[in-house]
This record gives sequence, structure tokens and C-alpha cells, in this order.
Amino acid sequence: MNMTSTPSSTASTPALQLEGVRKVYEVGGEPAVALDHASLTVEQAETVALLGPSGSGKTTLCSIAGGLLSATDGKVLVAGEDITRYDPRRLSRFRQSTVGFVFQTVNLVPFLTARENLLVVDELGRRTGAAARRRADRLLEELGVGDRSKNLPSQLSGGQRQRVAIGRALMNEPQLVLFDEPTSALDTATGEQVMELIRSEMGSRGTAAVIVTHDDRITRFADRTVHIVDGALDA
Ligand SMILES: Nc1ncnc2c1ncn2[C@@H]1O[C@H](COP(=O)(O)OP(=O)(O)OP(=O)(O)O)[C@@H](O)[C@H]1O
Ligand SMILES: [Mg+2]
Repeated sequence: MNMTSTPSSTASTPALQLEGVRKVYEVGGEPAVALDHASLTVEQAETVALLGPSGSGKTTLCSIAGGLLSATDGKVLVAGEDITRYDPRRLSRFRQSTVGFVFQTVNLVPFLTARENLLVVDELGRRTGAAARRRADRLLEELGVGDRSKNLPSQLSGGQRQRVAIGRALMNEPQLVLFDEPTSALDTATGEQVMELIRSEMGSRGTAAVIVTHDDRITRFADRTVHIVDGALDA
């Protein structure tokens, strides 16, 4: 059971609302603006591609949307929940219940099998025991790696590893999944397969997604493309 105080979202509550978000890092005592008054709304079940050159602020935006990083200014709402002023403890609880992450370098735990990598989420989150094991097995099956559940990451191909990472991101039934360049370490054909899979998995669950890329071939898998240049969005 979900014990967090997530407000009940209605059909019209967006999955993500960024309002005038600014992020200023400090480098050698100097401020470095990574995001400049970024505003973006992602509706429920919508897939948005975030396209921009290296250093434009894509990872920063995803990290803020997923509660891994705090904004310097502005407002961040995920599934109607205002996380802007959450302290690290509440942010951590929020991440367990509401968002999923898939990164470019698939950071699976190397000494755990594919199945155990999904169950690790469970130990941190809210699912327990047999139900979680059934969900992990079903997800791996759906993602086409059911027969690899006992493999360690080193015994999987790049595409299979990324499938396991997607399964892990979906374990907690998130409202929003943030993909940071999920296909850039894959060859073109495998990358397209993984994107097809992301689209169908998000579509069938009605889960919203932000997919970061600097590859404009990826954007056709999204409902909408938003461009980012020097920390500014065109949305
Ligand atoms: N922790 C940090 N401290 C200081 N500056 C940072 C930090 N993280 C990122 N930056 C700077 O903020 C800007 C945006 O970085 P970010 O990682 O969001 O870009 P990106 O669009 O994801 O780039 P890439 O496509 O190369 O992954 C860059 O100029 C970067 O140098
Ligand atoms: Mg990045």
C-alpha cells in the first residue's frame, strides 16, 4: 500500500509541470546557468522528446523533474504533487513512488541477476515479497528478456541490459518515466527496437515519458518534440 501523501490525480492533472525553472550551478565560484526559466507541461500518457546539443541542460532538466536535483528557482509539479520545496527525505520517498529513471549508461547492479535488479527497487519501495517477484517476472517477460532473468548484466547484450533497466523503471508503477539518452550506447537497429518497446510500454500503461536525445531519428517515437538550447526551451 502506498503510504505517501500523493494527492489524488484526476484525468486532467499533467504528469509533469515545470514553471519558470532555473538552475544555476557554481563552478569555481562563478555561477553557471544550466536552465533558464524553463516551462514545460507533459500530459498524462504523453511522450515528449527533449532534443538539444551537448551541454544544453537536458540531464539537468530530467534530474530536476525526477527529484534528483533541486531547482534554484521556479516550480516543479509531478502528477500534481508540488515537490519544489521537498527536503532530501521526502524527495527520496517521492522518487520511490512516482517516477522511474532510465539512463544512458545502464546502471544495473553488476552482481545481481536481471530479476534481482528489478526486485532491488522493491526493497527500497513499497512492494513486498511474492507480488513483487510476480511483477518482476511479468515485466521481464513483456520486455522480451524473460528467459534471461537469471543472467548477470555482464551476461546480457547492450539492448537486453537496457530492457532490464526499463523494467526496473516500471517496477513501482510510476506516473512519469525519465529517459536520459536511452539508446545512445546502442547500435541503430537495437536503438530502434528499444524505442519501439518504450513507446508500446508507455502507451499500454498510460505512463508519461520524457525522452532525452540528441538524435533526431528518435523524435518520431514521441508525441511531441521540445528543443533546448543553452538551457532555454522552445515550448
Ligand atoms: N554538477 C554540475 N556543476 C556545474 N556545472 C554543471 C553540473 N552539471 C552540469 N553542469 C553544466 O550545466 C550545463 C548543462 O549540463 P547538462 O548535463 O544538463 O547538459 P546535457 O544537455 O545533458 O548534455 P549532454 O548531451 O552532453 O549530456 C553544462 O554547461 C554543464 O557543464
Ligand atoms: Mg546529459
